[in-house]
Amino acid sequence: MFFSGTMRISDEGHLLIGGCDLVKLASEYGTPLYVYDEELIRKKCRLYKNAFAKEYPNAEVVYAGKAFLTTAMCRLVDEEGLALDVVSGGELYTALEAGFPVSRIYFHGNNKTEEELDLALEVGVGRIVADSLMELEFLDEIARQKGKEVDLYLRVKPGIKAHTHHYIQTGQEDSKFGLGISDGQVLAAVDFVCSRKRLNLKGLHCHIGSQILNPKPFRLAARVMMKLIAEIKSKKGILLNELNLGGGLGIRYTSADEPCDFDSFIRLLAETVRQEAGEMNLPLPKLMIEPGRSIVGEAGVTLYRVGTIKDIPNIRRYVSVDGGMTDNLRPALYEAEYVALVANKASAAAKEVVTIAGKNCESGDILIKDIKLPELEKGDILAVLSTGAYHYSMANNYNRNPRPAVVFVRDGRADLVVKRESWRDLVRLDCMPERFKKYQNPV
Ligand SMILES: Cc1ncc(COP(=O)(O)O)c(C=O)c1O
Repeated sequence: MFFSGTMRISDEGHLLIGGCDLVKLASEYGTPLYVYDEELIRKKCRLYKNAFAKEYPNAEVVYAGKAFLTTAMCRLVDEEGLALDVVSGGELYTALEAGFPVSRIYFHGNNKTEEELDLALEVGVGRIVADSLMELEFLDEIARQKGKEVDLYLRVKPGIKAHTHHYIQTGQEDSKFGLGISDGQVLAAVDFVCSRKRLNLKGLHCHIGSQILNPKPFRLAARVMMKLIAEIKSKKGILLNELNLGGGLGIRYTSADEPCDFDSFIRLLAETVRQEAGEMNLPLPKLMIEPGRSIVGEAGVTLYRVGTIKDIPNIRRYVSVDGGMTDNLRPALYEAEYVALVANKASAAAKEVVTIAGKNCESGDILIKDIKLPELEKGDILAVLSTGAYHYSMANNYNRNPRPAVVFVRDGRADLVVKRESWRDLVRLDCMPERFKKYQNPV
């Protein structure tokens, strides 16, 4: 078992985060409930910034909003001095609504729509990360129509497959994201951008994967990207001086996960870029990373209330909770593993092995298979750890279940940052064709 950030056990045996009693939060805000340790998010932002300040000052940390984004989170990211990566018009709109400085927004995506690019150009986002030749043509056309210039990066496939425990370099990466190096797409894109006066090529971007615990593939990616900068300089006469190496650093979901610490990670990137620049006689580029999970992942817990308990003799005990794949898609999506604590019995000894089931109508809606916990009863509050990244942002309304509320806790104070959806919210966008109206029976 591990405790992250400000997580503690009170004298009463209740779990506390940010000085707030999770059992009280569950009663006050209802369950399921996403609770974020604000202090821990801020600490992670500062750890990244401080590591760069020591190792490579010409750098920027870009928070990947896809991991978790709300208007309050945008304000926090801005307060901590990070930039923001968005991948959709919705994320961009959220950032704008929060008053996030547009010049520090990076806009990604492999199929940005006209409406999205229109908004991005209208407000003047800092950089657009172009993903394909077709997108560059589209971007040029929109820029021409709007009479605007676009500062952009090219997203490159560095040809590295990074997994949690091993990595390989492949000649040709089969991925929907980015432009290939070996097939000449990157150089063709450089030619295209240079032929268009409204498109300004500022740098390169890559992202090799997610939940990467072993940092070595990042070194490989940094080398590939620096070599590409050298190739573009020698073949096209263009010196690119911004390099974004993406996100992907892993976190601890269970005690089996051993993530790399931020200092070592940043040192490895800085050393690699410095070494490659020295060998190829290149000036040091401005360096960027785009962490999402490693900033918010361990700062979030999800609270559930225990409901039905079902024994299958000699097989297992299913303990059902009031959420599931609607608020945490990761176990159903890729068998992700989690640990949990019982918030109202935090100091009780673990006694029984149970399986935590969600309430959704899918046999695969299992949150945790075989976890040893104190004896559970209906009404207990279960806290599933490390649910801060890709949980709220992937939450859905399967079975027409409303999405949970989100609360930030800090110094004994809890603040609602997203309201719980209601059943009313679920029908709010439904439309009733005239011919069905005679059946309508308002509740
Ligand atoms: C382009 C890009 N940048 C950053 C990230 C963030 O990755 P992570 O949350 O693993 O740090 C992702 C995640 O998919 C991504 O696609």
